[in-house]
Amino acid sequence: MNQEADTHPIGSTHSCCCSLYYYGVAVAIILLIILKKWVNGGKVSKRRDLSNEVIIVTGGNSGIGFETCKDLVRNGAQVVLATRNQQRGQNAVNELNKIRPNSSEFMKLDLSDLTSVRMFANEFKSKYNKLNCLINNAGIMAIFTCVLTKDGFESQIGTNHFGHFLLTNLLFDVLKQTPQFRIINVSSRAHQRHSINFDDINFSNTPYQKFAAYSASKLANILFTQELQKKFDAKKLNGKAICLHPGVVRTELASHFPYYNIVYPILYPIALLLLKSPEAGAQTTLQCVHEDFNNLESGKYYVDCKVHPTNNKKTLTVQNAERLWDMSVKLVKLEQSI
Ligand SMILES: NC(=O)c1ccc[n+]([C@@H]2O[C@H](COP(=O)([O-])OP(=O)(O)OC[C@H]3O[C@@H](n4cnc5c(N)ncnc54)[C@H](OP(=O)(O)O)[C@@H]3O)[C@@H](O)[C@H]2O)c1
Repeated sequence: MNQEADTHPIGSTHSCCCSLYYYGVAVAIILLIILKKWVNGGKVSKRRDLSNEVIIVTGGNSGIGFETCKDLVRNGAQVVLATRNQQRGQNAVNELNKIRPNSSEFMKLDLSDLTSVRMFANEFKSKYNKLNCLINNAGIMAIFTCVLTKDGFESQIGTNHFGHFLLTNLLFDVLKQTPQFRIINVSSRAHQRHSINFDDINFSNTPYQKFAAYSASKLANILFTQELQKKFDAKKLNGKAICLHPGVVRTELASHFPYYNIVYPILYPIALLLLKSPEAGAQTTLQCVHEDFNNLESGKYYVDCKVHPTNNKKTLTVQNAERLWDMSVKLVKLEQSI
């Protein structure tokens, strides 16, 4: 009895510490789940049956593009993966065809080479006579030196804007004969930080800054979307152009950074916690695909599956949208634009 009386207080302190410990762990887990849910952001609210729809996804072999393709084939779409690397493109197609046989095919497209863009458009049009949705997703970010594309553009604006600009224009004849067509341009929140130097778009006479060049290319995606929608409206076309920021997503976009292979595994646990998964990063694109056509807000910028204000009013003007369009027509040597 005495012994029991002696040990009781110690036992109760021990069990109290244990419960505090478990309570702490439970709170930490709940907080982590809440944090992760918050980081992952919005989710597609509903899905459409995409059977009989043809959808092109540029850069569909990795990251946000690949996750987008997975959802599209699950929901019945015929997907054309437009990427520059045959092996990586074919590997992705093989994975997609495991989800649904014959759901996708690879077609070579190098957005940094306008000849390749023209060849892709011809190949696509020789096989398909409709295009329900064009997802201009491919992109490169913060290339360290001012590399020029084959056609002499700074590589980020060349790939992210001029390549997609030409592609969209060349596919316009199949788009316009498809009722309720959509063009979804994957831009970025990075559009907020800089501006576009229209007098020296390729940094020929201005010191090159890798993030300023990325920002300019993502501003161009938004200006392109706005002008595209204006043209659809003027022609009374039943088409919608939308742009979006996918969130900050754990993908290969920064894989060319120095020491990436060493630094990334070290930072991976933090990235796992604080960055969106590629699947979460695809949600806003998918929302724009699955949203009822009439509810989709044309010409607008989406974030986390909802329309969101852009944040660079000085650069995102009607005049700049027109200026970029006219400049792009000349620079990609387009005989007839939309
Ligand atoms: N990840 C983010 O946090 C984030 C944030 C905001 C916006 N974004 C935008 O999201 C889009 C998708 O990026 P991601 O994060 O998914 O990166 P990612 O995993 O690196 O995917 C980029 C895709 O673009 C393709 N690509 C690059 N250059 C190309 C070219 N010249 N021709 C054709 N395809 C080309 C890549 O093909 P290869 O496999 O051949 O390289 C790859 O499939 C980009 O437009 C990016 O700017 C991403």
